[in-house]
Amino acid sequence: MSALIELDDIEVHFKVRARRSAAPVTLRAVDGVSLAVERSQCLGVVGESGCGKSTLAGVLIGLTEPTAGRVRYDGRDVDTRRSKDVRRSIQMVFQDPVASLNPRRRVRSVLAELIDYHGLVPEAGMTSALNSLMEMVNLPPRVLEARPRELSGGQRQRVAIARALAVQPEVLVADEAVSALDVSAQATVVNLLADLRAELGLTIVFISHDLGIVRTLCDRVAVMYAGRVVEEGAAETIFTAARHPYTRALLRAAPDLYRPDAGRDAPALGGDPAGPST
Ligand SMILES: Nc1ncnc2c1ncn2[C@@H]1O[C@H](COP(=O)(O)OP(=O)(O)OP(=O)(O)O)[C@@H](O)[C@H]1O
Ligand SMILES: [Mg+2]
Repeated sequence: MSALIELDDIEVHFKVRARRSAAPVTLRAVDGVSLAVERSQCLGVVGESGCGKSTLAGVLIGLTEPTAGRVRYDGRDVDTRRSKDVRRSIQMVFQDPVASLNPRRRVRSVLAELIDYHGLVPEAGMTSALNSLMEMVNLPPRVLEARPRELSGGQRQRVAIARALAVQPEVLVADEAVSALDVSAQATVVNLLADLRAELGLTIVFISHDLGIVRTLCDRVAVMYAGRVVEEGAAETIFTAARHPYTRALLRAAPDLYRPDAGRDAPALGGDPAGPST
């Protein structure tokens, strides 16, 4: 069986100018990435700021046309002009739920409109569909009547996840989806993602700077550096026996994973150890 998502030698180039008067140069934001994500897998994507993670996410969700390379979804080639159904199947959760939710609209109307648009639930079933979405993301049904600004950061991020789930996707691409949250809200959202994966068989691409969370949540990890994947493998292998010098440097820069007394608390993830030393 082939992987659910296959990226084959993806490149994304941008023309940029150092100064307004300077000649444009080509910036290789993604520079030959090949990756496969199996169904129900959680792939972590890590690497320093600017290494191309979000650009790659843009390619996955069909927002960015790669300069070269091929994206295959469920065995078929897809591009930015993908069908409504493929678009629905791959959903994104962003870092900033405030920016991705219209502040003026109640949660109920946002979710109902999406479900309607995709014709996923008959009119008579809408109320129960919305209630079960709230239940899925561990929010009380009254949140449906709230506007985003009336909710806490953790609640808003769970609404953003509910919005992604409303269209019954197979894949969630989470780009720094918990970075803006405090430690306890992070734990709630990360545990929720782990549960959704177990319950719905959701495939997750989890982009994060937080290696402790990646280690807890992901079973595979891809390490990016300067637009390339320098190492990819089972999470345990990456965290205990990284081969690439850049991966080792990245791990050394994550004191949570190595020095329990470093002063910063590792996120408490429902009793799961966030690293070998916690
Ligand atoms: N639309 C664009 N036009 C020009 N350059 C871009 C564009 N989008 C991204 N870049 C550049 O491409 C490179 C990769 O950016 P990208 O946002 O993918 O990095 P990232 O790994 O997500 O970083 P971060 O961890 O900070 O979110 C950066 O040098 C960025 O400045
Ligand atoms: Mg990014």
